Formats: sequence, C-alpha cells, structure tokens
Amino acid sequence: MVDAAENALIRRLIRAGAGTDDEIDVLLKDAGLAEVARVLVEEVVFRCPEPANTTPVEVALDLTHGGERHGVALRMVRDEPVRVVAEESARVRSRVTFTAAGLIRRLYGPTDSPRTGDFTNSFLPTPEDPARLRELLTEMNTVLRAAAQATATLMAGCTGRRPDLGELSIRYGSDKWASFHWYTAHYERHFARYRDRPVRILEIGIGGFEDDLGGGSLKMWKRFFPRGEVFGLDLYDKTALTEPRITALVGDQNDPEYLTAMAREHGPFDLVIDDGSHVNEHVRTSFRTLFPLVRPGGLYVIEDLQTAYFGDFGGSSGGVAGPDTSLGLVKELIDDLHHREHRDPAVSRPTVTQATVTGVHAYHNLVFVEKGTNGEDTLPTWMDADVWTALGAK
Ligand SMILES: C[S@@+](CC[C@H](N)C(=O)[O-])C[C@H]1O[C@@H](n2cnc3c(N)ncnc32)[C@H](O)[C@@H]1O
Repeated sequence: MVDAAENALIRRLIRAGAGTDDEIDVLLKDAGLAEVARVLVEEVVFRCPEPANTTPVEVALDLTHGGERHGVALRMVRDEPVRVVAEESARVRSRVTFTAAGLIRRLYGPTDSPRTGDFTNSFLPTPEDPARLRELLTEMNTVLRAAAQATATLMAGCTGRRPDLGELSIRYGSDKWASFHWYTAHYERHFARYRDRPVRILEIGIGGFEDDLGGGSLKMWKRFFPRGEVFGLDLYDKTALTEPRITALVGDQNDPEYLTAMAREHGPFDLVIDDGSHVNEHVRTSFRTLFPLVRPGGLYVIEDLQTAYFGDFGGSSGGVAGPDTSLGLVKELIDDLHHREHRDPAVSRPTVTQATVTGVHAYHNLVFVEKGTNGEDTLPTWMDADVWTALGAK
C-alpha cells in the first residue's frame, strides 16, 4: 500500500525532475537520501525489462548526494523478476553510481533532455594477482557477459524512455494489442504529446473481472508515462494493485454520483479511457459524467465500440447504431462539433459537449474525443446567398 506521505513525495519527485537543482536539493534535504533512494529504486525495479542473463548476477546501484552514499544490490537472472537484495560486495559484479539528482532527472525529467556522463559504471573487482586474473579470464564468458547484460537491464530501468506500447501491452498482459484488438498504434499516436507530462490518467475497467486481479494496462500506462499518475476503476475490488503511481478504485461506471465524487477527489484527469463493461448505457453515462471534468487539452477514449451493434449490450440490430448506443454518442459528438453551423434552430447556448469537443477521431472499434474550446464561428452572414439575392446579384 502507498500512504499519503509517499504519494506526496512521488509528486514532488515528478515536479523536481523537470525543475531546478535547488528544488532537488531542498527535496533531498526534506525527505533524506535514504527515503528518496527507496522510492527511486522501487521505480527503477518497476522499469527494468526482463533480464536476459541466464547466469545469476548482482548489480549494485549507488546513489550519492553531498558526502552521503546509499547503495542497494539488485539480483538479476532470466525468468525471475528483478529484486533488491542485501548488498554484499563479493557477489556484486557490476556497480552503477548516480548522483541522486542525476537519477531523479533521468526518471522524472523530460525524456528528451541531453545527458552524458551522469553515471559511472565499474565491472568486476580489479585483480590483484595473476592467479585471480586467470580465474577471471575463465569467468569472462559467463559472469562478465551476464554482468554486462544485467547492467544493460539496470540502465534500461534508469530511464524515462519506454519501449513500444505494443511490447508493453504484451509485457504486462493487457489485451490492447493482439488478442483481438489492435489499439496500441492509435494510442501511440494520440498519446505521444502527453508522454513527458505529469498526466493523470483514469482507466475504467482494470481487467480480470471477478476472477483475476488484472491490472496489466495500469502497469503499461505507468511505464508509458514516466511522470504520470494512473488511476484504475473497477466494479470489483482490485485495491491490491495500488502501488507507487497506481491507485485502484472500486466503483460502478454507471453511477454518476460516484463518478463525480471520484473525479473531484482524484482528478482532473488529462486522459480517460473507457474499457469497462462496454454496455452502451454505461458507456454513455460515464462519458456524460466524466467528460465535463476532463482537463481542457485532454482526451476521452472509448474502446470496443462494436457493442453498439450487439443486442445483449443494449446495441442496435440492422447495421445502424441507434441514438442510445456508444456509436450514437459518437455521431452526436460530430454534430456537436459543428454546432456553429446548425440552422433552424441556430444554437444560442451551446451544451458542454458543443462548447468543448474539438475533435473526434474514430477508428475500428475505438474513438478518441478531444477536449478544448470549440468556438470557431460559422461563415460571415454577408456570404449568405439571401444577402446577395437581396442586392440583385446573380
Ligand atoms: C475488458 S476488462 C478491462 C481490461 C483492461 N482495461 C486491459 O486493457 O487490460 C473490463 C473490466 O471492466 C470491469 N467492469 C465491468 N462492469 C463495470 C462497471 N459497471 N463499472 C466498472 N468496471 C466494470 C470488469 O470487472 C473488468 O475487470
């Protein structure tokens, strides 16, 4: 479980990653190197890809600040999760040292800022005698190779850069790529501009239903947005998934009162994804309640629009999605986008969606709705044919 103090520290780290040296200094002074290191190491372990080395090795990660040093060792071997172990220098085959400020910037700063030499790395103890050197040479092909692979794994964890979303969805077990859906390329495109921001993202539908804990997509978003806070909402209790930068909430997406209170407590969200029940009524209730509370400049995504044609989800038969379906909502939003063009009657007081939907990007079974200010006016009245006719123009 993550307590309020830890959440507050993580938020400070996210801000400081893009801030000045002074901000990082003050943060380290307030929280102390040991506490900051604990949070950073947890984040690094989360971000590490699966180790490739088959020979188990330990890699040390040292953080320094002022005259202080805080070190941990990470055990790495293929088919096992990376884990923190007590540091015993005899077993450590490679040592990576960062200043605490350097690692904060790597993990929580903008991913495109240039950096060189912000860490040092040393391999294997220097041999003091020829016998030890011979021993080391025989180890070269196994231990040194494993240490190099494990160090590469650690360095991949010490970065904000993230792998392709398709790969992440497989790594964490979300069904957004392959297994029937091919959504991640669309997500890559529409989410790219939010990647470096301290976004708040809500996903309705954590996965696993009653039977499994699920949570694959929450971890995928956590890895994809290195400065993001991820919230998942599900009908079933999945609060065991709560960890740094992930909060699992229990509630019904068809309950507007709950949704409003939840969004006021944890929002405003920059990104909302509806991958919940896919019952048409529920999709519409969630959108109508949450879209007004999305931050301007944000996006609202609805998955699995195919249920607009499925009778057992409240969809329409006959190949035309009716007004009460999710796709009926999408069509309505396109009308809202054009409200300044409506005639007979013209719109005098735009609704929330008329005033704030600025784009509707629909794909097979998936839609991205942009939130902003939709104030662009219609053509000037002097261009109306009636005016020219009255003036005698042909
Ligand atoms: C398709 S799964 C989500 C998959 C997950 N988003 C992923 O990409 O891996 C749908 C989830 O929605 C949840 N759900 C169903 N009805 C719901 C409701 N009315 N409110 C909230 N969650 C609901 C289910 O319990 C299930 O875990």
